[in-house]
Formats: sequence, C-alpha cells, structure tokens
Amino acid sequence: MLSRKLLGQGALNENPVLTLDRAYEYTEDWVDWDTHGPGTAFRKYYSLYYDIARSFDLDPAARYCPDYPAARLQTRVWSRLTSEGVRAVRQLRPFTRDNNGGTPMKDVSGKIAVVTGGGSGMGRELVRQLVAEGCAVAMCDVSARGMAETMRLCAAAGLPQGLRITAHVADVSNEPDVQRFRDEMAAQHATDRIHLLFNNAGISGGGSMIVNERAEWERTFNICWGGVYLTTRAFLPMLRAADEAHIVNTSSMNGFWASVGPDTPHTAYSAAKFAVKGFTEALIADFRMNAPHIKVSVVMPGHIGTGIRDNSLKVQAFTDADGLNAAQIAQIRTRMASMGGDASKYSDADIERMHAERARRFVTDAPTTAAEAATIILDGVKADHLRILVGSDARIIDRMVREDPDHAYEPEFYERFAAEAGWYLGR
Ligand SMILES: NC(=O)c1ccc[n+]([C@@H]2O[C@H](COP(=O)([O-])OP(=O)(O)OC[C@H]3O[C@@H](n4cnc5c(N)ncnc54)[C@H](O)[C@@H]3O)[C@@H](O)[C@H]2O)c1
Repeated sequence: MLSRKLLGQGALNENPVLTLDRAYEYTEDWVDWDTHGPGTAFRKYYSLYYDIARSFDLDPAARYCPDYPAARLQTRVWSRLTSEGVRAVRQLRPFTRDNNGGTPMKDVSGKIAVVTGGGSGMGRELVRQLVAEGCAVAMCDVSARGMAETMRLCAAAGLPQGLRITAHVADVSNEPDVQRFRDEMAAQHATDRIHLLFNNAGISGGGSMIVNERAEWERTFNICWGGVYLTTRAFLPMLRAADEAHIVNTSSMNGFWASVGPDTPHTAYSAAKFAVKGFTEALIADFRMNAPHIKVSVVMPGHIGTGIRDNSLKVQAFTDADGLNAAQIAQIRTRMASMGGDASKYSDADIERMHAERARRFVTDAPTTAAEAATIILDGVKADHLRILVGSDARIIDRMVREDPDHAYEPEFYERFAAEAGWYLGR
C-alpha cells in the first residue's frame, strides 16, 4: 500500500497538475513493457496506481478492472503527490520510448505555442504549419517586417476561425525584451499557460576568436545560446502551468560537429549550438524529477534553405534595412580574411554582389527547404523524439562523426562528407 507520505500536499503544490488520465498512459507503457519484460513490473505499477486512486477515494478501475465501468477519471491526483511520491512513481517506470515521461503531444490543435524568430525561415514555416493545424501562436522576432509577412501568409492560407496569432518585437538575447514578450502574449492570448515553446531564433557570425570582433562573437553566442536560456526561463512558469508541454530547442548539426569545413572558423555558433544540445539533454532528468509533464526535443538541422545569411548580417548590425551598410561590408571583409582570402582586391560593390549571390545559393542549393524542415520538426515533436535530425546531410554527418570522431575536423573527412552529402558550404 502506498504510504500517505507519498501522497501529501507538500512539495508539489506548485507543480503543474497532472491527471489520473496520465497515470493510465503510464500504465499502458507498463503493459507494453510487460510483454517484453518481467510481469512483476506491471503488477507493481498497477498496484501503485490503484493505491493513488484509492487514497483519494477515486475509482481506479476504469481501465484495467473489468468489474467496473470504463469511465475515465479526470481527477487531479498527481498534483497532490509529494516530490517523493512522484519519484516513487517515476522509478517504477522502465526506460520507455519517450524521453521523460508523459504522452507525446500527438495533436497541436487547441494548444498555444510560442515561436522565437518567427519572421523568416524555419520559424516562419513552423508558425504557418502550427496555425494550419489549429494551434494558437505567439511569435517574436527582431524584424517586425518579417513577422508581418508571416502573418500575411497565415491569413492568405485562411485562418481557422477564432484562432489567435500575435507578433511581438523582441530580441531573445535581451532579458527585459523576453519578459515583455511573455507578458504581452499572456495578456493578448488571455492565458497563464503555454503548451509548446520553440526556441528557434538564431544567427551566424563571430567565426574566429582571432580575427572577428569580440562584439560580433558575443552577439552570435548570446542569441543562439542566451536566447534559448532566457526564453526557457521566462516561459517556464507558463509551461509548468499547462497539463502537457514540450520545449523544442533548435541547435544544429553544429551542435555535435563544430565545423562547416576545415578552412572556415566557426567558433561562436558551434559553442552556442553545443550548449543548446547539452542544456536540452540535461533538462530531461531535471523535468523527470521536477516537472514530469514537460517534454523536450533538440533540433539539429543540416543545411536548410533560409535567409539566415542575410538576416545574420542585419541582426549583427542591429538593422532591418535591405542592402549592406559600411559596417556590414567591413564584417564580410573580415570574414573573408578569416578564411585566408584577400578581401582588399574587391570593391564594396563586388562584396555586395558576392554576398547576394552567396545568400541566393544558400537557399537554392540546400537539400532541405524551410517548409520541409518545419514538417520534420513538428512530426518529431508529435512522435516525441528527443533528437530531431533535419535533412539527409544532418543524418550523414551524425553517422560519420560517431564512426570517426578523432578525424572529424580533418580536410579529408570534410571531403568525404561533402561528396556524400552534396555540400559546397565552407569552400
Ligand atoms: N538554415 C540553416 O542551414 C540552419 C542549420 C542549422 C540550424 N539552423 C538554426 O535554425 C534556426 C532558424 O534559422 P533559419 O535558418 O530559419 O534562419 P532565418 O534567418 O531565416 O530565421 C531566423 C529568424 O530569427 C530572427 N532572429 C535573429 N536573431 C534574433 C533575436 N536576437 N531575437 C529575435 N529574433 C531573432 C531573425 O530576424 C529571423 O527572422 C536558427 O537557430 C539557426 O541557427 C539553421
């Protein structure tokens, strides 16, 4: 019999409410496991579940006891467990196909999602696909123009009736901005909870510790890593308040392979993306113990056809204007120098032309489009995958780095990867 100690009103008072319904789902996991493993596991879990229900004078038999009607009990039992009680339940669970408990969020309709960097690329496509599936969305971006276009595209596709989409100008590397974004969205969506957080905003830049300005390096790091951290912190109370929740952090294939080619310094971005991956994976145990209904995924795209080349230069220069200003041209020259190029032989007009061509090819030559990437990400979330690799190139490099980690940064390794993946980046 489960002791009262595990069922007190204590430590979990602040924790989000989990329902007895979810206990059924856990029990289902045990049934699955029971077919492969020791039968005692299921019986032990079932009796614990039964005891939880009985301790609150509930009918525990809705599903597994044929003598009782199969009414589903929606009683908020789990919210009344102490953390010791949750731990006891958790310890009885086997390593399941999902990463930290609960059930996958198979359906996003009727949910509320927050998307950072919704004004372009994968963020925009995530917003469009979430909205098309009936999920309310609050997005932020530094580009009001980009978000206006995302809104226009959603409206043109036909908004589900009554669905709320809001846009908020906010820089994810700035904590007051992020907190204002949260407060604005809470007011405009009239909610104290969200179900999905897509930490998607990111930029490149600051490749070299030697050649690039420290300010450029830190802008990249503070957005790609700091933005994920600050936004997670700001929205955590709203995720905890939901009955199911999922945090989706966009890292990169540079979150496990710190390179885009042997001659291209790539330090700030890689450091940040490794941090995002490490943070996300470490959250699994934290949430398992302290917020078991929040699931996590780390997204690791390969080369995706987006405007990140252009947008990164804008965000680095704190401008949303088209065309390159003197500071942006100087930044491109520095980048060329960091890769051993002689930038002095090009005029500013040459640099502008070359940049435009590189940005255009980044979109057209990518093996995966932004829309395809968003579908892969959403499918991964619904299937509750911890690691969501996006694109054939990401899958190839994942395999290659595991096979040969000692040589992952050698020119010959890159040539093999580029040949197999059809890459030209970093040349
Ligand atoms: N495109 C790729 O090949 C690729 C590959 C791996 C990972 N990623 C990652 O995917 C994510 C999305 O990138 P994308 O390719 O769609 O780029 P994108 O430039 O098309 O979209 C990113 C959006 O984020 C916004 N943004 C940038 N800094 C911001 C900030 N500080 N605050 C708020 N918004 C900000 C930009 O204005 C832009 O609208 C990024 O984290 C990126 O690092 C991209």
